[in-house]
Amino acid sequence: MIRLAIQAKGRLNEESTEILTESGLTFEKSKRKLLTRCEDFPLEILYLRDDDIPGAVEMGVADIGIVGLNEVVEKAADVEIIHKLGFGKCRLSLAIPKSEVYEGVVSFNGKRVATSYPAILKDFFSSKGVSAQIHKIAGSVEVAPSVGMADAIFDIVSTGGTLITNGLKEVEKVFLSEAVLIVNKEIDNEKRTLVNQLISRFEAVERSKGMKYLLMNIPLSMVDDATILIPGMRSPTILPLAQPGWCSMHVVVNESQLWPKLESLKALGAEGILVLSLDKMMP
Ligand code: PRP
Repeated sequence: MIRLAIQAKGRLNEESTEILTESGLTFEKSKRKLLTRCEDFPLEILYLRDDDIPGAVEMGVADIGIVGLNEVVEKAADVEIIHKLGFGKCRLSLAIPKSEVYEGVVSFNGKRVATSYPAILKDFFSSKGVSAQIHKIAGSVEVAPSVGMADAIFDIVSTGGTLITNGLKEVEKVFLSEAVLIVNKEIDNEKRTLVNQLISRFEAVERSKGMKYLLMNIPLSMVDDATILIPGMRSPTILPLAQPGWCSMHVVVNESQLWPKLESLKALGAEGILVLSLDKMMP
């Protein structure tokens, strides 16, 4: 049995729950039950505040955790970052009132900067030789300049909407973050095996994102040309049709290249093209 800590509420909760569900794990999703058992995998899910997750994993209260890289670095947690999950992408940025002229990072000298990430900001200012007053607050950071609590802020930016709404502009992108899977450094081999199984499920889900399964009928004489266009993972699957000279070609393609490829395949004589969604892909 392993225990996984995920965010109880907030930006990563939904996507963390989603990747677990898509990985075939069944568990109760009540907002009130803070420790729940998975029905079909030896896993317990512990719901915590995101800033408590790195410490919980470091102490071994949870064996693994899904949390933003920003929280791991801010807490300087002694944990292993074992897998990047590709969701929850955001950045930690410095922002100032939009009416002010920005003259580079030196303009923060002597200024008061409000943030929930004082350690990361302190490192950044030290690396730039800036001496500013860092004022730690737990939330609603973007309001600090307009109420006179600070001259600038350092906080999470995702779409940038919160900055704009609060009359601020982003002037320095300091730290790029995304959700990561962290592991306690002292877990035993039995737990490590379960963690690896979980990662391989996550990877299967990640691999299938943006991928489509393509089926079509195509003249046999065109298979070589079509294979150059859509080589697939190893090579396309070719199945004979009852009609001589024709076959059915099956292949996995990246959705981003789908439309130009479909047009080229039509030009080669492909017919009855079907594009199907994929749930999981194992290598
Ligand atoms: C974060 C951050 C900002 C907001 C930025 O808050 O503190 O307020 O997201 O996102 P945007 O650029 O898309 O507008 P979050 O919703 O994570 O909640 P928090 O207050 O718990 O940090």
